Amino acid sequence: MPSVDLQLPHHRYSIEIEPGALSALGEKVRAVAPHDVAAMVIDENVADTHAPAAKRSLEAAGFEVVTHTLPAGEAHKTLDAVRELYDVFVKHRLERKSPVVALSGGVIGDTVGFAAASYLRGVPLVQCPTTLLAMVDSAVGGKTGVNLPAGKNLVGAFYQPALVVEDINTLRTLPDRQLRCGLAECAKHAMIHDADLFAWTGHHVEAIMSRDADTLTQLVARNVAIKASVVMADEKEAGGRVHLNFGHTFAHAIEATQFSSTSVTHCKPREPGRPDPGPHEHGEAVALGMVAAAHLAVGADRCDASACARLIELLNRVGLPTASDALADTDALIGAMRIDKKVADGRIRLVLPDRVGHVTIVEDTPIDAIRAAWERLRVT
Ligand SMILES: NC(=O)c1ccc[n+]([C@@H]2O[C@H](COP(=O)([O-])OP(=O)(O)OC[C@H]3O[C@@H](n4cnc5c(N)ncnc54)[C@H](O)[C@@H]3O)[C@@H](O)[C@H]2O)c1
Ligand SMILES: [Zn+2]
Repeated sequence: MPSVDLQLPHHRYSIEIEPGALSALGEKVRAVAPHDVAAMVIDENVADTHAPAAKRSLEAAGFEVVTHTLPAGEAHKTLDAVRELYDVFVKHRLERKSPVVALSGGVIGDTVGFAAASYLRGVPLVQCPTTLLAMVDSAVGGKTGVNLPAGKNLVGAFYQPALVVEDINTLRTLPDRQLRCGLAECAKHAMIHDADLFAWTGHHVEAIMSRDADTLTQLVARNVAIKASVVMADEKEAGGRVHLNFGHTFAHAIEATQFSSTSVTHCKPREPGRPDPGPHEHGEAVALGMVAAAHLAVGADRCDASACARLIELLNRVGLPTASDALADTDALIGAMRIDKKVADGRIRLVLPDRVGHVTIVEDTPIDAIRAAWERLRVT
């Protein structure tokens, strides 16, 4: 069974990756948080499929399990949800040593993570991600938090889990569109760190999409290892962790503008017969953002055009967008980039590829070059 150890100066934990891992959850949790009561927080989309096995396993290991279900979706990643969790924790007398298990995608992981970080100044958190995005990205590295009406992830804490258990079999019920979005983050990891993984991923797209358990286990383990290594080198995003923002300054601008725009119609390429997808999901915006960053790097002579072409080819093979005619308002997109919270001192800082497997942080990119990159995205 692959297991990745994340070692920080004052804390270490393991990320265990295995098909069927939830059936052994109880004993794993008992090893890090031996207490009588465990809270398990889920959303409605895993209540009937994956929560029962996790609950059975926790009970078999001697826990009294308090299950609480939150509604699914980014709209529920709020302080209201956190307050609701505090009420549950108080009502069931959770103590400093009582484990709190988060089972579902990144929305549950981030929300429950923040509740666990702040309740009694921190109770043991066990992340059980069930989306590919959460497995390779949000459940690893200790960022927790919720949204405010003013913007995404504006309240939060760095709070590392006590344990992460990733059951590859849960991906069988994940809709294809969500799996593709997770693959956008995998492509990101490969672009920033691992040319070999980039090629491997391209060769295994079909096996991944057909949910082949061995292939998914390898995919997740390799991506978790990259995310963990970046976090170990820079836990609080003072340096190298910024590389994980590759594609994201552009992506956040797409996400910020698409809700205020009426021009969002569709993106290219479309799968035959696929209905109008409406606003881009985060992973789709990341795919577009990485391509924009690659176009920019090629235009600035920082990167070979063949690397950009390989990125576009991989994303297309996965079924992610690499160009979009929903991005007509370049001024609005550039305006949104300026107010992204990753902007340092009012300057747009970008992570640009030099080649497949390596990126560089670039400050002060001229606005004209950014504008040209957005336009390449529209007309490709
Ligand atoms: N903390 C971090 O470092 C970090 C990093 C990246 C993203 N995030 C956050 O993660 C969130 C996105 O996470 P996500 O993409 O997992 O979204 P999500 O949590 O909304 O999950 C996507 C959908 O899939 C459903 N689902 C989950 N598991 C399922 C399964 N096995 N089968 C069927 N359906 C399932 C969910 O109920 C939801 O409807 C965002 O809020 C983002 O800000 C955090
Ligand atoms: Zn992302």
